[in-house]
Amino acid sequence: MPADEPQPTTDHGTTDSPTYPPSPEFAAAAAVGADVYDRAAADRLGFWAEQARTLEWETPFSTVLDDSEAPRYGWFTDGRLNASHNAVDRHVAAGHGDRVALLWEGEDGGSRRITYAELADDVARAANALTSLGVGTGDRVAIYLPMIPEAVVAMLACARIGAPHSVVFGGFSADALHSRILDAEATLVITADGGYRRGAASPLKPAVDDALAKGGTAVAHVLVVRRTGGEVAWTPERDVWWHDVVPQASAEHEPVWVEAEHPLFILYTSGTTGKPKGIFHSTGGYLTQTSFTHRAVFDLHPETDVYWCTADIGWITGHSYVVYGPLLNGATQVIYEGTPDTPHRGRWWEIVQKYGVTILYTAPTAIRTCMKWGEDVPGGFDLSSLRVLGSVGEPINPEAWTWYRRAIGGDRTPIVDTWWQTETGAIMISPLPGVTAAKPGSAQVPLPGVVAEVLDDAGAPIHDDRAGYLALTEPWPAMLRGIWGDPQRFADTYWSRFPGVYFAGDGARRDADGDIWLLGRVDDVMNVSGHRLSTAEIESALVSHPWVAEAAVVGASDETTGQAVVAFVILRDGEEVTDRPSGDDADEQVVAALRSHVGAAIGPIAKPRSILVVAELPKTRSGKIMRRLLRDVAEHRDVGDVTTLADSGVMGLIQQGMAKPA
Ligand code: PRX
Repeated sequence: MPADEPQPTTDHGTTDSPTYPPSPEFAAAAAVGADVYDRAAADRLGFWAEQARTLEWETPFSTVLDDSEAPRYGWFTDGRLNASHNAVDRHVAAGHGDRVALLWEGEDGGSRRITYAELADDVARAANALTSLGVGTGDRVAIYLPMIPEAVVAMLACARIGAPHSVVFGGFSADALHSRILDAEATLVITADGGYRRGAASPLKPAVDDALAKGGTAVAHVLVVRRTGGEVAWTPERDVWWHDVVPQASAEHEPVWVEAEHPLFILYTSGTTGKPKGIFHSTGGYLTQTSFTHRAVFDLHPETDVYWCTADIGWITGHSYVVYGPLLNGATQVIYEGTPDTPHRGRWWEIVQKYGVTILYTAPTAIRTCMKWGEDVPGGFDLSSLRVLGSVGEPINPEAWTWYRRAIGGDRTPIVDTWWQTETGAIMISPLPGVTAAKPGSAQVPLPGVVAEVLDDAGAPIHDDRAGYLALTEPWPAMLRGIWGDPQRFADTYWSRFPGVYFAGDGARRDADGDIWLLGRVDDVMNVSGHRLSTAEIESALVSHPWVAEAAVVGASDETTGQAVVAFVILRDGEEVTDRPSGDDADEQVVAALRSHVGAAIGPIAKPRSILVVAELPKTRSGKIMRRLLRDVAEHRDVGDVTTLADSGVMGLIQQGMAKPA
């Protein structure tokens, strides 16, 4: 990679580390065997068509891939289906209505078991209620809910009437919610009075009220689930209690059969500019790949497994591997509302023991946090039911991988390190647990039907362990269909770096065995605790504060969270700034105020770990901020080549500032 390109931020693991093949018993009973690779390689489109036919179609498709408008690819375009019918009704019709779909565990100790038959009723009632509130096919619905069963019901009810949902993570602020509601032109918001987090009721509806008070939205109604029983402000005519309209609605509902390409949902994610991207996904292709990958990667045996993915529905992992994938496959799954350390640090392991969880899917940051808490915490629980462990969101360092396998998996469970993105919709690169000899730290091989390459700067494939750019060189069914309202940005962001090829934004290398090692983002996107954050978005939040003249944000490596947000700010001088603290602790006060300002603009997850007040920022002669140098400072490294700086003295001043705690 050329020196002035952003460099990969992490480089974990080695190629010659030990491998962990599946046990012969595991391999013999696996849901998917080694032959699947050959079948998919021999006839890739035929393979995906075969997977698509595991779904129920109201109108069968005859076209598999339509590339006439590439890169806006279409899959199974002449077929019609419905997502909620496939996720729920189909299992009831097949005689599995009594199977438990959701084992919900509230943080406050409450729990609910919901069978597929009950879920079918709830979804149909909610779909009727949405229709009675004026939501039609194609209208967008914003969902801002905690991890409660109604979140799943709400998403499926939207899907049932063909209204794309836009789930906004409950940790995002009113500002962030407002911009997402505006961008999608949502007409309904589904929220709750609040949810339980860290042992206390935490309100949600006030953020919806604040977001809507900012104006400009097309929202006609707010549908409110009562979860905590806390006081809520009420806007008559606009606000409607869920319990006043959903349980009363009919449980009869004919799903709206939509074309395979009908948008199922929009999900906002961070890009390299300040404006989040509304990634939208189709129905047929997305469902095909989420159900296949969920079955194959987790070796799902729906009659006997108890699956648990710890992701929040506000992220793509929650969409694909809490809602759609598991339900399409008729799985029984745990959903947990709260935090891993409430009321004690063994809460997750207590849940595994209580429900006999067999498959656990979580993020490296959570694993590293548990490592910090010590092995005796999980050691106090019976985890012998576990048989497959998954990891997602960021590279997993081999140390965390081996700890996960030993302390949680009893040295017996395969681990699947799954690489994918909001944009890919479904897992793309991962071992198959009954087939692959796992290599700690490597996501390893593209799944059957997926074609990935590591490319050099000129777009030529690399196979000799050199670092390059990860690219997906053939279309895949669950691929994003675009950026909502911005086709040009879609083309520019993903399809222009290497023409005709999807550029993922990740650095990678491919070792001599053909295994892929992910090296982190090569753009200005950060990955904090597996959450994607944009440097530009946080910078624009900082400069929107009246005290800030300029800001630069970098992701610095962090032992627990993978990366952490570190900001450098230049404060504004001049007469208009009258309220800025002065005195001995002025800097600390400024930093505290700016951190909470970022929290309010985006959400607590975006608050910088540290903010350094500086006099200058390192810039090239053309005025571009050299984030690479700031990252060196933030990671306490010697600063690299500074010859392209306009003022080479700047770095010395910044480093002196970094020496004192911010
Ligand atoms: O950098 C990669 C990292 O997460 C990014 C995608 O983030 P997001 O769209 O929020 O989706 C996260 C959940 C799928 C990727 O560009 N990433 C995700 N999984 C892995 C990973 N990096 C390395 N190894 C992984 N298994």
